Amino acid sequence: MRFDLISIFPDYFTPLTLSLMGKAEDAGLVTLAAHDLRQWATGKHRSVDDTPYGGGAGMVMRADVWARALDDALATPLACENEEAATASCRRVLAIPTPSGTPLTQPVVEDLARADQIIVACGRYEGIDARVAQHYRAAGVEVLEFSIGDYVLNGGEVAAMVLTEAVARLLDGFMGNPDSLVEESHSGAGLLEYPVFTKPRDFRSLEIPEVLLGGNHAAIERWRRDRAIEKTVAVRPDLALSLDAAALSGDDRATLAACGVAYPRAGAAERLTVRQAELEDVVAVSELAARTFPDACPQDLPREAIDEHIATQLSADVFDSLISDPERHRLFVAEVWGGLVGYVLTHVGPDALPSDLVRPGRVDVGNAYLSKCYVDAAWRGSGIADVLLERAVADAAKAGHRAIVLGTNRGNKAAQAFYKKHGFRKRSTRTFDVGGVANYDVVMVRDLTPTGGATLA
Ligand code: ADE
Repeated sequence: MRFDLISIFPDYFTPLTLSLMGKAEDAGLVTLAAHDLRQWATGKHRSVDDTPYGGGAGMVMRADVWARALDDALATPLACENEEAATASCRRVLAIPTPSGTPLTQPVVEDLARADQIIVACGRYEGIDARVAQHYRAAGVEVLEFSIGDYVLNGGEVAAMVLTEAVARLLDGFMGNPDSLVEESHSGAGLLEYPVFTKPRDFRSLEIPEVLLGGNHAAIERWRRDRAIEKTVAVRPDLALSLDAAALSGDDRATLAACGVAYPRAGAAERLTVRQAELEDVVAVSELAARTFPDACPQDLPREAIDEHIATQLSADVFDSLISDPERHRLFVAEVWGGLVGYVLTHVGPDALPSDLVRPGRVDVGNAYLSKCYVDAAWRGSGIADVLLERAVADAAKAGHRAIVLGTNRGNKAAQAFYKKHGFRKRSTRTFDVGGVANYDVVMVRDLTPTGGATLA
């Protein structure tokens, strides 16, 4: 890869001969050529700029001087040209740093790393005559006007060095350990990097996270991924909302949702809020309940029984009375921009459990009861159910319960696996009436005591 950096201050680029970049040049991996633009200037003063047409402050760099420099740079013979291959097989990019250019992001840099030559035309003063970019584009040259950030520098030299280093380090053989490239910020799924630690282990009373001290590689990987997700949502919500959805696992999605970003099955990610339901939500929650309940029913349950259950148990009136009594009934909703997409209902307090569960030998009187946890079909797998469930569980623990109990259809293995992942264990069975039809449930319990099984399986 050849870099031609053209500037009226070519000495600016001296630091590029240091460190890994210097080694890469010595090894023949990159060629760095810094040029003084004044070589191509004419006249007694070798002037490279002039006053702007239309008036205004400052000076503009002359197109004719730049064109002579760029014609020469574009005509430089490259290693990719040989007897058989035509010049066209070499990819030459003319990069022009300017605060009004497209942002220089990792994907742009990754693309540039596939070029054979990058010529960087560093402007000063008020910039380069706009006809330079116009002319070379029209002539078929790949022109990239780029910015390294939303601030203004004195000239393009620093931006040129940023581009050169960002591109060169991606070239095969540049990094001593190419693994460093794999997990760093802005690569892969588009997450920022997780925090890193090294010796000494004791530093001003700040501890190393426990998981990093054990040898559980899967747990370390998960911990790092979770911290990367949290950091990205906190620092760059724009990036968190535009991750590569195909590269996100179920656990990633659960962490994202816990941080307030939900990825649906199809379409764009959205900011997610989980909050306690209010009376204004009554109609929306009952509609959501009616939409989602049928999906959790066994295939052979008659539609009339389902409809009957919806009409009598999931009506707006029912939700009105639940929301009106928050001391005993705790309803949390998941909301995205388009409305409510999930809800969880628990009953807390001394008489929280339904009577069929408190029969002797089943579960302890005084446990909290998780009655419902439902998410709209389009948002299943987005981690919303995980967030709702954990919110309800934390709420029950805060209310002083030592355990929380639920019943779920014995045929619904996905639901059972989901609850198991969240620390619930099978304890018993029960029958559950849906519109006059008996259904068979497994009863699962999660210990909420600090020493109990409250940690995730
Ligand atoms: N020249 C001046 N400011 C710049 C910036 N932010 N990015 C690229 N080139 C520049």
